[in-house]
Amino acid sequence: MPHAEPMSKTPARPAPLAWVDRAPFYQAGLAGYSDAPMRLIARQHGCPYCVTEAMLDRFLVGGGKGLRKAELDDADHPIAGQLMGSHPDEIAAGARVLVKLGYDVVDINLACPVKKIKKKSRGGHLLSAPDEAIAILYAVADAVGGDVPLSVKLRRGYDDSPQAEADFHRILQTVIDLGYAAATVHGRTVQQKYIGPARWPFLAEMTRRYRDAMQRGFLLFGSGDIENVESIFRMIEQTGVHGVSVARGCIGNPWIFRQAQQRMGGQPIAPPTLDEQRRVLAAHFELSVRQHGEALAGRMMRKFGIKFARHHDRAEEVAKAFIAVKSLGDWRDVLGRYYPSGQRSRV
Ligand SMILES: Cc1cc2nc3c(=O)[nH]c(=O)nc-3n(C[C@H](O)[C@H](O)[C@H](O)COP(=O)(O)O)c2cc1C
Repeated sequence: MPHAEPMSKTPARPAPLAWVDRAPFYQAGLAGYSDAPMRLIARQHGCPYCVTEAMLDRFLVGGGKGLRKAELDDADHPIAGQLMGSHPDEIAAGARVLVKLGYDVVDINLACPVKKIKKKSRGGHLLSAPDEAIAILYAVADAVGGDVPLSVKLRRGYDDSPQAEADFHRILQTVIDLGYAAATVHGRTVQQKYIGPARWPFLAEMTRRYRDAMQRGFLLFGSGDIENVESIFRMIEQTGVHGVSVARGCIGNPWIFRQAQQRMGGQPIAPPTLDEQRRVLAAHFELSVRQHGEALAGRMMRKFGIKFARHHDRAEEVAKAFIAVKSLGDWRDVLGRYYPSGQRSRV
């Protein structure tokens, strides 16, 4: 009698998602922030996986600037390209473009709360039009045909009504039945936008309800109110999700990933020294110039600088200085003034 292989506790993951067993967190899609420079800096700090900001299907299919923006650096893997759209055929065509560009995972956005465009539902608004959302899920699964794993980002419902909750479960069950590899659920409703807390008990209920699918390998990730390294592990503990999507908590804070790795390694969690802050600001700036050119990089770095300032001992003063930045020269001045080189410790 041949030996039966012992049952592995962890089902085999699709390769682009295998990181979850080593480091259960990733960098979320963040419109206006999570560009290639932010992703590369996060990866240098121990982030194992990134999602792009939501890309409109017709910009990808139309070619030109939208398509160029989606091109990938060799070091920027594994990565999910996130798609947003209204029409199943268009979003399916967008998915094919992402596969051709070398994205490791295609992620569908059913979460964005920005209002409908020309009465068409897209993003989170599709949660209130479950038939349309489901048609999109089918079309993308057909178009990608197993070439890369698929995932979905959704909110816990369109609003707090029982109908919205039923629609959420109908959509998520379809995601599972169609063989999607993963879903990330943001514990706020679409109507809630970013106001009020994310409902973690909803995530806990969800992992109980979909336990069988999770045991068969379907990955459930949680999102909402991840402000620091402790909240990553608290969410996993309290809700049972496989992993956590880090969003606002990593803007101007790539160290959250280094700290998460330190915590898993049982090491003390160190805040970034002033020297680290200066090096990261300079490296981020250089990558941004390379990606966007000086003018746009200047604007991008100003908003990042305001977030990075939180780590400085003179946080308020540094944030004010970044807020006042008008030119690239101003940005360099702030760096020179508040982040002098050659100092190893925090000021
Ligand atoms: C400025 C901003 C832009 C965002 N853009 C996206 C996006 O493009 N795609 C996406 O899936 N989520 C996007 N989100 C939602 C986040 O990924 C995340 O789900 C949400 O911020 C909740 O997590 P948090 O409370 O830990 O920030 C965005 C959030 C913010 C604040």
